[in-house]
Amino acid sequence: MQRISLTRFLVEEQRRHNTIPVELRLLIEVVARAQKSISHAVGKGALNEVLGVALTANVQGEMQKHLDILANDILLEANEWGGHLAAMASEEMESIHPIPNRYPQGEYLLLFDPLDGSSNIDVNVSIGTIFSVLKAPEGMRTPSEQDFMQSGSKQVAAGYAIYGPQTMLVLTTGHGVNCFTLDREMGAWILTESNVQIPDNAEEFAINMSNARHWHPPVTRFVNEMLAGKTGSLGKDYNMRWVASMVADVHRLLHHGGIFMYPADARDPDRPGKLRLMYEANPMAMIIEQAGGACTDGKQRMLDIEPTSLHQRVAVFLGSRGEVELITQYHAQQTQDGLQTMLQDLSQDKIEHDFQDLLTSVTVQAATVVNRKKSAPSYRR
Ligand code: AHG
Ligand code: MN
Ligand code: MN
Repeated sequence: MQRISLTRFLVEEQRRHNTIPVELRLLIEVVARAQKSISHAVGKGALNEVLGVALTANVQGEMQKHLDILANDILLEANEWGGHLAAMASEEMESIHPIPNRYPQGEYLLLFDPLDGSSNIDVNVSIGTIFSVLKAPEGMRTPSEQDFMQSGSKQVAAGYAIYGPQTMLVLTTGHGVNCFTLDREMGAWILTESNVQIPDNAEEFAINMSNARHWHPPVTRFVNEMLAGKTGSLGKDYNMRWVASMVADVHRLLHHGGIFMYPADARDPDRPGKLRLMYEANPMAMIIEQAGGACTDGKQRMLDIEPTSLHQRVAVFLGSRGEVELITQYHAQQTQDGLQTMLQDLSQDKIEHDFQDLLTSVTVQAATVVNRKKSAPSYRR
């Protein structure tokens, strides 16, 4: 097997498509190097004393694990000095992290979920690091949160590392999806899968079933149809998997086909799902689309959503095109049915209202006539 390193791949990709200028290549290489360090720390586990809860909460009120903080620090440190970035944002930090003045400022913005699947850290189950790269807006001087408010379609690169039986890097720069395996002895990322395509024929779904009682009707309908198997309306048997690390669930369906869902539910109307648009949904959506799949929030293409805040949450449906289109269609149908009912109620109300008006005016007129009759002089004919 010819061994193509990450650097060689990026250089050749630049020659082919002209989409990876030197600064972006440096950025991706630095992120990949940081992911090597994180993989090392994850691999050491208890030997490194990095397991367990850190007794601090992140901006979203979630308890941080030691490894969440360590991974965050590794990514910050690695990316500060290279001159390729203007600022970073992380799931674990309240506000953005501009590049300190002592270093040159570059033209890219980096966002990351340093450790995805935190609940699996202590039990030796696959976890990962997700990242997304945006271009800083033209003419930006001092980076602000507003500069990050760009739709996912503006991403110039996205990827994740998965720390599983093997450590792998899955990367897109807008021309397909490629996978690199970490050669631990050499410390090198080696291209092991080119142009990965999600199989259309989905037979797996991933969702946290314990939330079923809170789901909205379109999700319940779709999951019930999948559970009905061959004799149901979808006509095939589905298998279910839920690792509870998005990186692992997405990595599996990237290869097997299927659909991953983390929907919004009825528990808290102000919380549209659990996952974060900027650190999880957008980078995964870019990867999935580049692999021929689809990703929506149930209503619209994920990559078209205009973000309004850094830590915004969103419902996520991603994977094989057919399944994602179906659940999105069920959401649209629900909205349409809702509108129809509203319209019917409205027109019912209107009829009643008009009738009431009519009745009132007839009564008033009748009363006037009666009164007029009463007060009118009677003439003898
Ligand atoms: P994070 O560890 O970065 O907070 O992300 C965890 C996410 C995601 O990886 C996974 O799909 C989901 O949370 C699991 O949620 P449940 O524990 O509700 O199943
Ligand atoms: Mn995560
Ligand atoms: Mn995380």
